[in-house]
Amino acid sequence: MMDISFNDDYAKEFVSNSEICSLQENVDHLHADLEKKTGQGSEYLGWLHLPSRTPSSLFDSILSTQNEIIRKCDAFVCIGIGGSYLGARAAISFLSSVASKEDTPEIYFAGHTMCSDYHAELLRALEGREVCINLISKSGTTLESAIAFRLLRNFMEKKYGKEGASRRIIVTTESKKSMINDLAKEEGYLSFHLPEDVGGRFSVLTSAGLLPIAIAGIDIRDFMDGALLVEKELTKSSDLSLNTAYLYAAYRHLLFQKGKTIELMAAFHSSFEYVLEWWKQLVGESEGKGGKGIFPSSAHYTTDLHSLGQRVQEGTRNLFETFLLVEKSSKVIEIERSNFDRDGLGYLEGKSLDFINEKAYKGSATAHLEGGVPNLAITLKERSAHNLGQLFYFFERAVAMTGYLSGVNPFDQPGVEFYKRNMFRLLNKPSQ
Ligand code: PA5
Repeated sequence: MMDISFNDDYAKEFVSNSEICSLQENVDHLHADLEKKTGQGSEYLGWLHLPSRTPSSLFDSILSTQNEIIRKCDAFVCIGIGGSYLGARAAISFLSSVASKEDTPEIYFAGHTMCSDYHAELLRALEGREVCINLISKSGTTLESAIAFRLLRNFMEKKYGKEGASRRIIVTTESKKSMINDLAKEEGYLSFHLPEDVGGRFSVLTSAGLLPIAIAGIDIRDFMDGALLVEKELTKSSDLSLNTAYLYAAYRHLLFQKGKTIELMAAFHSSFEYVLEWWKQLVGESEGKGGKGIFPSSAHYTTDLHSLGQRVQEGTRNLFETFLLVEKSSKVIEIERSNFDRDGLGYLEGKSLDFINEKAYKGSATAHLEGGVPNLAITLKERSAHNLGQLFYFFERAVAMTGYLSGVNPFDQPGVEFYKRNMFRLLNKPSQ
């Protein structure tokens, strides 16, 4: 059984059961399109069965690389942007404090920004450290990653010499089309190959995500087992009373049609910070096409209840919320007993922060509903690799189905080329 539960109690006023049921036939067809690869973007459906089809040889080579990297370095830099960055960052920030392996290198990120100060500070932080780097770029042509790679490769070659550096550089890229692959062969860098049929934002379960996640000490087999469990569950039936990812997609589709064009994903656990960023990319790049698409936004509650909360409660009624919750934290903290009640917290003595946080969630869910904001909730049992693998796969299925329901191809991203064209023209990039 999945460790993810989906709750629609606070959205039922806005979406009737018969509206959900009216989508069933279409959902069945679209599910078949996904499984039989007969829908839009079918050349990018490799992610659908990554959990069940990833060969154990990939785990073996990632785990042997993990051992070598842990032995060699105390700082590991992942260079990538978008789908070649966010999955790993999300998993590492969600899980590293509960990781199973200790003495792992500190993980740094580069290439996700062109901020000069960020890279200068990173290079300074790496001085005096034992460093390994991993360029992750499917195309091998992404400007931000290429710039960061050049900076870091030079840093490595100055520090270790060309040959020494080549033993500390790993490249994760597509084998056939990427020019980085040729460079890796020439320089003798260790390489991992990304499947052609998996797009960046769906690649967290490929070596793009798995290698850095393993190096952070997270159990990648457990992580993938979680995803596998959900793959099986969500593949076997498209029935909206059984398939909660598709039910979530159905709500999203119907709420969007009713003018709820913004989805605010609000987490009550701070470790979700980059999971929210990963989710926003998944939604934005997959669904935002043809003048359609939910605008994905995120919030950290209760922090943002003291800022955005006002807008949510009483502003333009064009949003719905999805609460992202964890049933229990890894560490329990209780409000201690005290003889003095000067802070007025006597009524909370002996209560855990989880208990109080849960009441904050319930309080917000009912208040926002009263204010005209339908809300859904997705709850994980615990903060673990197994649960996170489940969640990633759950969202991928839900977003693919929402995209199909609205008639767009969820697996391409033609829109992101526009800014690049202008930027390259302004930079006088020679045409190829
Ligand atoms: O989801 C996507 O396809 C994008 O976000 C890419 O992952 C991102 O642009 C980076 O591309 P690449 O891996 O080719 O460097």
